[in-house]
Amino acid sequence: MSQELRAVEWTGTGLALIDQTALPHRTETVDVHDVDGLVDAIRRLVVRGAPAIGAAGAYGVAIALLQGEREGWTEAEVRAAVARIREARPTAVNLMVCVDRVMTRFGKGLDAVLEEAAAVQREDVEANRAMAAFGADWLLKRVGEDRPLRILTHCNTGALATAGWGTALGVVRELHARGRVEVVYADETRPLLQGSRLTAWELVQEGIPHYVQVDGAAAGTILRGQVDAAVVGADRIAANGDTANKVGTVGVALACADAGIPFLVAAPTTTVDLATPDGDAIHIELRGEDEVLEWAGVRTAPAASRGHNPAFDVTPGRLVTGLVTERGVLEVSAGELPGERLK
Ligand code: MRU
Repeated sequence: MSQELRAVEWTGTGLALIDQTALPHRTETVDVHDVDGLVDAIRRLVVRGAPAIGAAGAYGVAIALLQGEREGWTEAEVRAAVARIREARPTAVNLMVCVDRVMTRFGKGLDAVLEEAAAVQREDVEANRAMAAFGADWLLKRVGEDRPLRILTHCNTGALATAGWGTALGVVRELHARGRVEVVYADETRPLLQGSRLTAWELVQEGIPHYVQVDGAAAGTILRGQVDAAVVGADRIAANGDTANKVGTVGVALACADAGIPFLVAAPTTTVDLATPDGDAIHIELRGEDEVLEWAGVRTAPAASRGHNPAFDVTPGRLVTGLVTERGVLEVSAGELPGERLK
């Protein structure tokens, strides 16, 4: 990709978000100038991916301040608006962490808030570049340096899902830059198709060979020996290494454990939540039933059926072979726990 993609961009008066619901067929941006618009964009997944919603939430504090100024809000009203942004989606801890970080500058005014939000965005890109190098080194050492790798990934973790470059897809991009990617299996990622719509689109932009496969194919592809390693992102990682990520991830991890291949989680430390002891304490977002009962707006399930639509699942730390952050790799299943090593 010649110019690095920015899913979240501050325009001076608001946010320009790449509309991730329209990709890959239309490349459009959504301009956000008010709190309702931002909350709606986060809930509808116009902007999505844990670090990207963290960056959007960080700038959301500025949006609340500016709207408050225009509409004569009290400080309490601005703070309540920021709290609504913070709670727009519950699972990705980056949203809360980034909003809270920027709120430490709230009393210093708009410029200080914008400066902190820009730092959140800049540091996320830096973290991604660092974890890409650590993750690529670790995988090559673990799987073998002699041939290009076949990598499976789930959901979208690229530039679109972050402030830039990507987490798990950032590791893939780094391996590709080193000439070490044979092929990527991109899981389709039901029900909103982040894999087939977004990951495949990014892989096409990067010229990385790939197959899109249905989520149900993942375990079989792994157990038939067609994959050397799986690399995924995360929305929240508990102190014991339990990892919440897009629904379907735990099945990939189980298959990797059975096949004896590495399951690598790539995430910045802003995704690690040391205050959450284990996966049971992670709030899993339950989304609308229609997302699974319909396909492209047409009802596919019987009218009487109910839908169960958890957006995420939790992979136990015992299945996480490696967790790569900007600080290096922890071998979680071997006992290197985030709660002890990332304090
Ligand atoms: O519902 P989404 O699309 O926001 O879910 C995103 C994921 O699950 C990603 O894997 C995760 O946020 C990591 S993005 C670098």
